[in-house]
Amino acid sequence: MTVGGGRSREAPVLTLDGPSGSGKGTVSRLVAARLGWHFLDSGALYRLLALAARSRGVELGDEMALARLALELDVRFTGGEDGEEPQVWLEGRDVSLELRTEEAGADASRVAALPAVRAALLERQRAFRQGPGLVADGRDMGTVVFPDAEAKVFLDASVGERALRRYNQLKRKGLRASLPELEREVAERDARDRGRSVSPLRAADDAVVVDTTSMALDAVVERVLAVVRTAFPEVKG
Ligand code: DC
Repeated sequence: MTVGGGRSREAPVLTLDGPSGSGKGTVSRLVAARLGWHFLDSGALYRLLALAARSRGVELGDEMALARLALELDVRFTGGEDGEEPQVWLEGRDVSLELRTEEAGADASRVAALPAVRAALLERQRAFRQGPGLVADGRDMGTVVFPDAEAKVFLDASVGERALRRYNQLKRKGLRASLPELEREVAERDARDRGRSVSPLRAADDAVVVDTTSMALDAVVERVLAVVRTAFPEVKG
């Protein structure tokens, strides 16, 4: 498929990066549903790898063993076309709920700091780029995985607001949560994701930065769709 006046022969990509709790996940899914594009939840891959490592007794610091595991990880995403969270399967087991716990997030952040792990997951992530288009949600989508993407957005929000969103999200799922603990965890994870030497969390130079702290979800979705329409005037959504 040729898009954007022949600038790229690959399928169009919108990259949506930002820290945890910036609203990225929800916004990406809704935008993908509006556009009818595929959706890559790259954080889920790091979470899945950490879960698989735990269940196989692989140490979360054993970089080479984790990289090997990343290459052979048997994962599947089903549903989610309507903007809902897709079901996630690891080796045939539904791990959708387990994947979203704070523990899985903290483990993911640890394995994501290992360069060999990131390298092993690179091609897996790029394979999601298929027509009619891809919305790629993560930390380094615009900087490392799809640096040639024509539409890039970086979503941000204050630590307090992000912790509150996480709290509400966990409560809705019937999971246990403490707001002060979440604030601490959000700040800690941020420091690790922004401070790591490989693919640190940062906005790509050509990304549109949107601070969502006091924005309603609908407004964020519309803002992101406006970025997509500017990059791809032929796209409806
Ligand atoms: O988006 P998330 O909370 O599911 O991500 C879990 C962890 O994975 C997060 O702490 C950072 C890491 N991650 C990453 O390093 N690069 C990505 N592209 C996506 C997630």
